[in-house]
Amino acid sequence: MKEVLINLAYLISASLFILGLKNLSHPKTAVRGNLIGSVGMLIAVLVTLLDKRIVDIPLIIAGLVLGAFIGTLLALKVQMTAMPQLVAVFNGLGGGASALVAGTALYEVLSKGAKPDPYFTTATVASGIIGAVTFFGSGVAFGKLQGLIRERPIRYSGEQVVKALVFGTALLLGAFLIHNPENTALYWAMTGVSSILGILLTIAIGGADMPVVIALLNSYSGLAASATGFVLQNNALIISGSLVGASGIILTNLMCKAMNRSLLNVLFGGFGEVVSEGKDVYEGKVKSTTPEEVALLLEGARRVVIVPGYGMAVAQAQYAVRDLFNLLESRGVEVEFGIHPVAGRMPGHMNVLLAEVEIPYEKMKELEDINPTFDQTDVVIVIGANDVVNPLAKTDPKSPIAGMPVLEVWRAKTVVVIKRSLSPGFAGIPNPLFAMDNTLMLFADAKKAVQEIVNALKET
Ligand code: TAP
Repeated sequence: MKEVLINLAYLISASLFILGLKNLSHPKTAVRGNLIGSVGMLIAVLVTLLDKRIVDIPLIIAGLVLGAFIGTLLALKVQMTAMPQLVAVFNGLGGGASALVAGTALYEVLSKGAKPDPYFTTATVASGIIGAVTFFGSGVAFGKLQGLIRERPIRYSGEQVVKALVFGTALLLGAFLIHNPENTALYWAMTGVSSILGILLTIAIGGADMPVVIALLNSYSGLAASATGFVLQNNALIISGSLVGASGIILTNLMCKAMNRSLLNVLFGGFGEVVSEGKDVYEGKVKSTTPEEVALLLEGARRVVIVPGYGMAVAQAQYAVRDLFNLLESRGVEVEFGIHPVAGRMPGHMNVLLAEVEIPYEKMKELEDINPTFDQTDVVIVIGANDVVNPLAKTDPKSPIAGMPVLEVWRAKTVVVIKRSLSPGFAGIPNPLFAMDNTLMLFADAKKAVQEIVNALKET
């Protein structure tokens, strides 16, 4: 009877995870989705505590309290721009925990004098390999995003052969373990070799691709958890792990599509190797402007599109942008936001920042919807965006961002680009948009520049 009730509760918590994910798919319902998912997790945790195998309740409560404390602290302290690093840490810890729990489960079975069956050891091997790859891969991703490790891809000759050999060795050790589960040293040797694989896989990928890698590692952490679910015969862990695995892969795919890259190209392409200063692109052709001049332009405009990018997030300019939006709307100007799917450093980065300052959702237009409107737009204001408005994506097949769908802002009557210098964006390449005839550069911090435009507009 107890078993039935436990499984019923797991089913409820799994249903809540699915419902939570569904709600997370839209900004309006995302907070509710988060809450529903958390309730699902609370049910799963409470029910697991009823399990007869739980031996040390105080230790678990101590873990819960400590985890909740660290989680709350991180949620309050971490900057929006550092969110990808935080996700990398979470993924890594998830993967590492799965590998450790699977290893411990092996010891537990052996300590009872039982011989683990191949079903159990196969799941243990899967958890150990995927978990270790996720832990160490995420560690490298964190290091690259935090600037602790060189962002550029580390490439060497025979690289793919080396990785294949390391992967093959991990699989071989796993196969030995399945045949000889009493030899626990094999488990640790296998996770050790998998750790090297995690490092090798991630150091070969450039910083610009790290968010995609993080989404992929997120998927891996789910798969590792799911494998551990099979080890522990815990349905909630199997289902929630599979959900994380599937949603991580869907997100990875969406991000690859938004950059017009295949996953193989991300994993083996070495994006971010080419860095050019672009002197010949800009020489003598860049026109700079002032906030007052931009205010005059906006005064005469009927339709304005604002394109935010990573720089808006860094400068925390969204509040000033909201003031500009309200002022223009109050003067009868039609204002919309052009949101590129990979603007910023994480999926939905711009939407979250704009929603934070209560920009209406219907004003945030996706790339396919906004691009056809640029021809009828008087002024586009690009705020701290670079790669996502780079025409090279369409014109230079050799460019690292070739084929990436971009916001075609240059088709508007006038483009104002707010950024501090001519420095490249994440992809490390020059942007010919800055030197176009209809482009004016406003060299300043995004927040300060937008505030000054608002002040100048108020005075006109
Ligand atoms: P970027 O191309 O990275 O350009 C951001 C620009 O903001 C920089 O050129 C920088 O120029 C400017 N900036 C920085 N701080 C600023 C400040 N305080 N005030 C004003 N400007 C400032 O950004 P993007 O256009 O948003 O493109 C995102 C990039 O990240 C793409 O390459 C994309 O592929 C990559 N990426 C994103 C994701 C996701 S999911 N979002 C995933 C994978 C890759 P200055 O230094 O001259 O000011």
